[in-house]
Amino acid sequence: MDNRAIGVFDSGLGGLTLVKELHRIMPQENIVYLGDTARIPYGTRSRETILRYAQEDIAFLQDKDVKMIVAACGTVSSTLTKEITSSLAVPFVDVILPTAQAACALTSHGKIGVIGTAASMGSNAYGKTIRNIRNDVRVFGNACPLLVHLVENGMIQEDNQITRLTVEMYLKPLMEEGIDTLILGCTHYPIIYPVFNSVLDYKVTLVDPGKATAQYVKNTLSKAGLFCTREEKGKTEYNVTDQPQSFGQTASLFLGEAVTEQVNQVRLKPLDSNS
Ligand code: DGL
Repeated sequence: MDNRAIGVFDSGLGGLTLVKELHRIMPQENIVYLGDTARIPYGTRSRETILRYAQEDIAFLQDKDVKMIVAACGTVSSTLTKEITSSLAVPFVDVILPTAQAACALTSHGKIGVIGTAASMGSNAYGKTIRNIRNDVRVFGNACPLLVHLVENGMIQEDNQITRLTVEMYLKPLMEEGIDTLILGCTHYPIIYPVFNSVLDYKVTLVDPGKATAQYVKNTLSKAGLFCTREEKGKTEYNVTDQPQSFGQTASLFLGEAVTEQVNQVRLKPLDSNS
């Protein structure tokens, strides 16, 4: 048993789709969330920069003495290496393996589509992980760099014509391949789930990394005997690296509930000063 918080980080607000699921399936757990809102997007940056940012995010959560660290960012998850994550003193989970496992279990005809940021798709992390699980599955990817900006700017309504046209453009080549399952490989995408559903012109199963990963986090805590002993609802501490004023409003869209807690603006230590 361990009453410390679960640490969750993302480049911005997208990781809150995973926090929403953690709240739902483990309401009594405390969470420390970090959104690196001053440096979003990560998905257009070089591998070296993403690795540096991710290590600074992890160091912030380590300083908070969390019992587990969750990378709730598709871009970071696609880029981080085992050398970095296996040396951490607490369990580490990212979104790739849980989401790939869920997609492999759900695919009906072995044709899985993956969408994500340019960095995520460039890494081919999903393709490699899926083929390790099932080598009979074919994977079709498409980078969707515009979607993060549309979501961050609140253009998330199902009838928003700009978002619809953008989603259509990105999904068309995947539909032409006949995918039966689609991984929403960026934590921002589940917020426009209804847009994906209405643009897809035949039945495709959508896989939300937040849902798949939250369940994986729960299993990991269970196996390690790290559930909290608390019975009442846990607290979530929100930390962002840019101004917190607008956070609450947008965050509530991702969380599906109002943010009543105070949101802290924090400064991350540069990587060199952490060693
Ligand atoms: N949250 C990031 C991801 O899941 C997308 C935003 C970004 O580019 O930083 O890939």
